[in-house]
This record gives sequence, structure tokens and C-alpha cells, in this order.
Amino acid sequence: MPAVERAAQIVALTREHVFPTAQALAEAFSTEPLWGFFLLRSIPRRWFVVVLARILRARLTAGKPAYVAVAGGEVVGAVVIAPPRRGKAGHWKIVRLGVRPGWRGRGVGSSLMDRAHSLCDPDPDARGVYLSTHGRRNRSFYERLGYRVTGQIRLGRLELYRMFRPTIHV
Ligand SMILES: CC(C)(COP(=O)(O)OP(=O)(O)OC[C@H]1O[C@@H](n2cnc3c(N)ncnc32)[C@H](O)[C@@H]1OP(=O)(O)O)[C@@H](O)C(=O)NCCC(=O)NCCS
Repeated sequence: MPAVERAAQIVALTREHVFPTAQALAEAFSTEPLWGFFLLRSIPRRWFVVVLARILRARLTAGKPAYVAVAGGEVVGAVVIAPPRRGKAGHWKIVRLGVRPGWRGRGVGSSLMDRAHSLCDPDPDARGVYLSTHGRRNRSFYERLGYRVTGQIRLGRLELYRMFRPTIHV
């Protein structure tokens, strides 16, 4: 069994997870240049948590998928996934992925992404999964998972990427 599966379990988001998941995502994004700098400096972290919790609750109600990584009873990371929208046939999207800083580099992010792909890959109509990210470290993280850069823009010192992973039909 991979080390991460002993350290953290990946489970579907439930109502009990909503608030701790919002806290984990807010903590994850506070170290991230775009959100951390622009957003968390202008609104307090607790408001960001409240907004994220509302978004997660609404997604649960709408039956949209999200998974959380739980370790020692605590939520340490999460991935939020969007199924194809009208006019975007076959295209799934990774809406948000975050792992608490103290849990990074231990395979939690990769395991969350594997779970997301296990949802998309069996979809016979799926063409692939796309996402937006920034920075070379995130780019190589996603490249290792089969994503390729399809678009790129520079925002100041920040490199933003649009990435796509074709479906691996199972
Ligand atoms: C990107 C992220 C989800 C990776 O989670 P993780 O649990 O550390 O991922 P894994 O352990 O499976 O893989 C580690 C790889 O993630 C990438 N990574 C990006 N930022 C990282 C960080 N701060 N610390 C560790 N790894 C990071 C690297 O490619 C790393 O591999 P490396 O150590 O060989 O460079 C996590 O760093 C995070 O939450 N970052 C802040 C939020 C964010 O940027 N989300 C993605 C935006 S779309």
C-alpha cells in the first residue's frame, strides 16, 4: 500500500467535512501567490473560509463531486471537480486542489488527483480534464499526472498555465 494511503484516506466530501475542508483549502491557498497575495490580504481568512464553505455546501446539494484527504480525523486536503458543462461536452475540470502546507510532498495531492481521474476516465463521453494553474512547480506536478500545457500567459512575475489531460479510457 502506498505510504500516503496509510497517512491519509481519500473519501467523498460529506456535510460534516464542509467546514474543515473550507479551512484546509483556505490554509492551502494562503501560501499560493495569486489568492494569498490579492485575496487573503484584502479579506480576513475567516471570511474566505465562510465563502468556501458556502460554495462547497452548494456543490454537495447539487450532487457535484469533491473528495477530501483525511488523516487522524482531520481534513488535510481536497479536490473539487466539475463535470462537463453544457457546450463543453466531454470536458471535466479540476476546479480547486489544495493540501495543507504541513502535509505537502507526501503524495496527498497526487492521491486526490488519482481519485478525480478515477471519476473522469470511466466516462465514455469524456475527452479529458482541464485546469488552470501557475508556477513551474505546479506545472511539473500536473505534467507528472499526464497533463500538457495548452495555453500560457504571464501576469507580472507569475506564469499562468492552462493544462489538459486526455482521457485514459478504462
Ligand atoms: C499543488 C499541491 C496540491 C500539491 O500537493 P502535495 O500533496 O504536495 O503533492 P504530492 O506530494 O503528491 O506531490 C508533490 C509535488 O507537488 C508539487 N508542489 C507544488 N507546490 C508544492 C509545495 N509547496 N510543496 C510540495 N510540493 C509542491 C511539486 O511538483 C512536488 O514535487 P517535487 O517535490 O518533486 O517538486 C500543494 O502544493 C498545494 O496545495 N499548493 C497550494 C495550492 C495550489 O497551488 N493548488 C494548485 C493550484 S491549481
